[in-house]
Amino acid sequence: MQKRTLGKSNLEVSALGLGCMGLSHGYGPATDTQEAISLIRAAVDRGVTFFDTAEVYGPYLNEEVVGEALAPVRDQVVIATKFGFTFGDDNKQQILNSRPEHIRWAVEGSLKRLRTDVIDLLYQHRVDPEVPIEDVAGVVKELIAEGKVKHFGLSEAGVQTIRRAHAVQPVTALQSEYSLWWREPETEVLPTLEELGIGFVPFSPLGKGFLTGAIKEGASFGSDDFRSTVPRFSPEALKANQALVDLLGAIAGEKGVTAAQIALAWLLAQKPWIVPIPGTTKLHRLEENLGAAAVALSEIDLSKIAEALDQVQIQGDRYSAALQSRVGR
Ligand SMILES: NC(=O)c1ccc[n+]([C@@H]2O[C@H](COP(=O)([O-])OP(=O)(O)OC[C@H]3O[C@@H](n4cnc5c(N)ncnc54)[C@H](OP(=O)(O)O)[C@@H]3O)[C@@H](O)[C@H]2O)c1
Repeated sequence: MQKRTLGKSNLEVSALGLGCMGLSHGYGPATDTQEAISLIRAAVDRGVTFFDTAEVYGPYLNEEVVGEALAPVRDQVVIATKFGFTFGDDNKQQILNSRPEHIRWAVEGSLKRLRTDVIDLLYQHRVDPEVPIEDVAGVVKELIAEGKVKHFGLSEAGVQTIRRAHAVQPVTALQSEYSLWWREPETEVLPTLEELGIGFVPFSPLGKGFLTGAIKEGASFGSDDFRSTVPRFSPEALKANQALVDLLGAIAGEKGVTAAQIALAWLLAQKPWIVPIPGTTKLHRLEENLGAAAVALSEIDLSKIAEALDQVQIQGDRYSAALQSRVGR
């Protein structure tokens, strides 16, 4: 697989990474640990060198699985994880917490679970309005000086926060949602990243599965599936948004590729410093998704996709009101 460099940093990763969250968190029951480990190792065998996890995925379980899976190849891969929450007594709540002492505590736990002595890329998962971003960047700078972390990242941060953080400790990557059905980063975020030389890691690049065409009108989600809370996955929204998937499916059919591959190839075509991290629990889908790195979209393909996007007004918010208040700050 081709490599990409995240912004002006020297962090080189495979053009597509693997989002590991869904193996333990967010989309229903966790995958059996041995199966999850096999899937992650299958990604390594197929050239993936960039793996995404977070303390909150589980919490804790996903980092443990990723750590066990990657231990034998630790020096050949880049592991990204995230801090930013405390979980309450039942480990179920997600309370924002980026206080410097908590970041240090979280990093010690992540290092142990990931079976490593250094985190390649450490993101703040969500901006904590109670803690100035300069303090967050300052403690990450110290952790880098101590050799516990190599690179600093932010997730779903607004442009002013990105600038303030970057002034204290250069930011290597921003990880925020970006896909064919969530293009808001194009307005302010991508130009800011380009100006500052920061890489971009789009999460949910397949629209949490929707853009692949696998989630049809009438689909329903269990209470342990995050999509049951997302307005964009309500029955009415799924029905209205199906038109986009149909148009993308037609473009994919003409090129002899799949809709998932179009969704990922489109992201790769936007900027050379964009590295999407699709997630899956299934080997055949992993292979399909990785195939997108070899799909070249011509100017004609890109204008057909642009036309399709112009034809469909996407319905439904990407987050519930409570979670919406945590993004873009
Ligand atoms: N920073 C943040 O706040 C944040 C938020 C969300 C996610 N993330 C990261 O981003 C990664 C990816 O995002 P995501 O998992 O939310 O969404 P995604 O990658 O857009 O989609 C994942 C979903 O699509 C399905 N899928 C994957 N490949 C498919 C294919 N080829 N055909 C049909 N269905 C397919 C998967 O189901 P199967 O497992 O059944 O294949 C899963 O339900 C996560 O793993 C996580 O590491 C970060």
